[in-house]
Amino acid sequence: MSIKNIVCIGAGYVGGPTMSVVAQKCPHINVTIVDLNQARIDAWNSDSLPIYEPGLEAVVQEARGRNLTFSTDIEGNIAKADMVFVSVNTPTKTFGKGAGVAANLEFIEKCARTIRANASKDLIVVEKSTLPVRTAETLEKILHAGDSKYHFEILSNPEFLAEGTAITDLHDPDRVLIGGRQNDLGKAAIQELVDVYANWVPNERILTTNTWSSELSKLVANAFLAQRVSSINAISSLCESTEADVGEVSRAIGMDSRIGSKFLKASVGFGGSCFKKDILNLVYICRTYGLTAEADYWEQVILMNDHQQSRFVDKLVGTMFNTVSDKKIAVLGFAFKADTGDTRESPAIHVVQELCEEHARVSVSDPQALGYAKTDLAGLEEFVTLEEDPYKACEGADAVCILTEWELYKDLDYKRIFDSMNKPAFLFDGRNIVNHQELYDLGFNVYPIGKGELSHL
Ligand code: NAI
Repeated sequence: MSIKNIVCIGAGYVGGPTMSVVAQKCPHINVTIVDLNQARIDAWNSDSLPIYEPGLEAVVQEARGRNLTFSTDIEGNIAKADMVFVSVNTPTKTFGKGAGVAANLEFIEKCARTIRANASKDLIVVEKSTLPVRTAETLEKILHAGDSKYHFEILSNPEFLAEGTAITDLHDPDRVLIGGRQNDLGKAAIQELVDVYANWVPNERILTTNTWSSELSKLVANAFLAQRVSSINAISSLCESTEADVGEVSRAIGMDSRIGSKFLKASVGFGGSCFKKDILNLVYICRTYGLTAEADYWEQVILMNDHQQSRFVDKLVGTMFNTVSDKKIAVLGFAFKADTGDTRESPAIHVVQELCEEHARVSVSDPQALGYAKTDLAGLEEFVTLEEDPYKACEGADAVCILTEWELYKDLDYKRIFDSMNKPAFLFDGRNIVNHQELYDLGFNVYPIGKGELSHL
């Protein structure tokens, strides 16, 4: 069989960009992305895409209408498919057994049932969502339950893209990982998917393995990445107490090729929809297998991240004479990282909520994320205003907090900002992106992460 029709269920941050790139790179394959959410599909079909991602628009424009389609007709498209990707959300469960830690697989299960009900031939089903190890076993049971006429071969193909750089990550991935059963049918299905990626990814970067190693690798990749952030953040507070500079420490250790230089930037903490939920999931799985020490070990990564966010607010309040009540605090950046409008698990949510508990007046600015900020901060309108213009957000403020590393915040006219603020003027750089000495020279009292403060007080 050669794959002619691919359907992807889930038109989100992963399904949308990933499948758009598959369509762009494989003009001989029809790619259809389906979703229950009509508004999302309408946006994918418009000039105003539902997610902000550098380079995405050009990819969609090239392929849409040629071999890329967005649709809400899930059933009809599954009936035409040779291969179905499942890229739906797998959030942390908020109810019942495993609430707060386990993955909620309700959406995945529903997809399996829809695929079984609508398939018109044997199908390859690809897990693109991040899933607990051994989920393929469950999918297999659901897909083959009852009087199912067709054979469904399940592959695991986790996605390693990072939001903000999704298109370059997809065009030039470090690796593509494909897991499947190690028998004839499994290996044949793996080869079909290898052939799709081989249209643009060099062969040596396409790794194939068994299903369980593939499923687990995604959770482990996110756990290791987040663990590095928490490790350097744990060092950042020690630096603040000892006149060491965390940037210098990162540089020094990062040049050790055994350690490597990436993901060693201290900050107000990591966010995003994945790190926390995937580690919680790993912790839950370890506990399920009775691996208590292992679960406790990985849980510390999350606890350290929570601590770093609270520590940021504690420091701010402590520095500002132990009260921020009725003081205006400008928050520059609400997205969980630069170059995305995504705010899921953004440290800014936590920081703003804590500032509101202290009765500060918080003015939030962000070039892409104010739409989501409105929802995330619903109920806090008494304390929060949203302001597109960063200069207006800072006007009359007692303090500025930089919470997202947007390039534009590096180049603001900080003299103008300083002049418009209440004095003493404080700046808390949660991303260490501005020139602290220059800002101090302008008159700011500057508090970076992981290095000494520069204060006139
Ligand atoms: P998302 O929430 O942006 O998109 C999921 C989409 O699936 C939504 O549009 C929703 O309406 C749709 N959906 C849910 N159930 C459905 C059903 N039964 N039928 C049709 N559509 C349905 O989620 P996102 O961020 O794209 O994540 C998807 C998966 O990819 C998750 O497992 C996530 O952990 C994983 N992942 C996410 C990354 C990221 O950077 N966001 C990176 C790598 C993996």
